[in-house]
Amino acid sequence: MSKITDHINQLREDFMKGSLNEVDIHKDPFTQFEIWLQQAIQSEMPEVQAMNLSTISDNKPSSRIVYLRRLNNHKFWFYGNYDSKKGKSLEENPNASLNFFWPELQRQIRIEGTVKKATKVNSDNYFNSRPLESQLGAWASAQSNKLSSRKKLENKLTELKKQFKGKEVPRPEHWGGWVLTANYYEFWQGRKSRLHDRLIYELKDKNWEISRLAP
Ligand SMILES: Cc1cc2nc3c(=O)[nH]c(=O)nc-3n(C[C@H](O)[C@H](O)[C@H](O)COP(=O)(O)O)c2cc1C
Repeated sequence: MSKITDHINQLREDFMKGSLNEVDIHKDPFTQFEIWLQQAIQSEMPEVQAMNLSTISDNKPSSRIVYLRRLNNHKFWFYGNYDSKKGKSLEENPNASLNFFWPELQRQIRIEGTVKKATKVNSDNYFNSRPLESQLGAWASAQSNKLSSRKKLENKLTELKKQFKGKEVPRPEHWGGWVLTANYYEFWQGRKSRLHDRLIYELKDKNWEISRLAP
């Protein structure tokens, strides 16, 4: 066995920080998500807003981290380039899943649903709230396309800085938001000896049905 394999095989975390009981959770999973997100924020853990986004294209799954930027009533917004791999993937298949892992709390949340593009107004509002460099970055980077060199990207940014000097940077058409509307949630709380708690919410006739899954 290589040293590194040896090392990771020996890593063991026992989860003792909490439990998740049917009597304690909110009957609405969105509210439950907000409660856990608030607790994650209070724990001062870094990057609580980072989530794994999985999409499917041509029957093949692909995952990457994106930031959750807005949430409201079972809807979760994130932003990026519409011509990127995830953008094309979501165009082809709107089914997607989100995954949050908050190690300090020994918690994981899985959310599944369907994705649509955010409204232009929503994308504009978010774009306008971004720092100037990020706005220019959205123009400079043809996200997920092959680049012949880093220099090319940096030159493009320098050019754009000159072009937009003293002007407002408008949102490029190819950049904006998506919104996932959830139809499934799983809340996972690590427990001792791998006997974790897993509670799921499934949308059945407009009601959220709660079940427990084996860990
Ligand atoms: C912490 C973190 C946050 C990120 N946030 C975003 C984001 O909000 N939007 C985005 O398009 N990419 C974000 N990225 C980059 C993506 O993971 C990914 O590299 C990029 O979106 C291109 O993915 P794609 O080729 O699958 O479309 C983030 C990466 C990390 C590590």
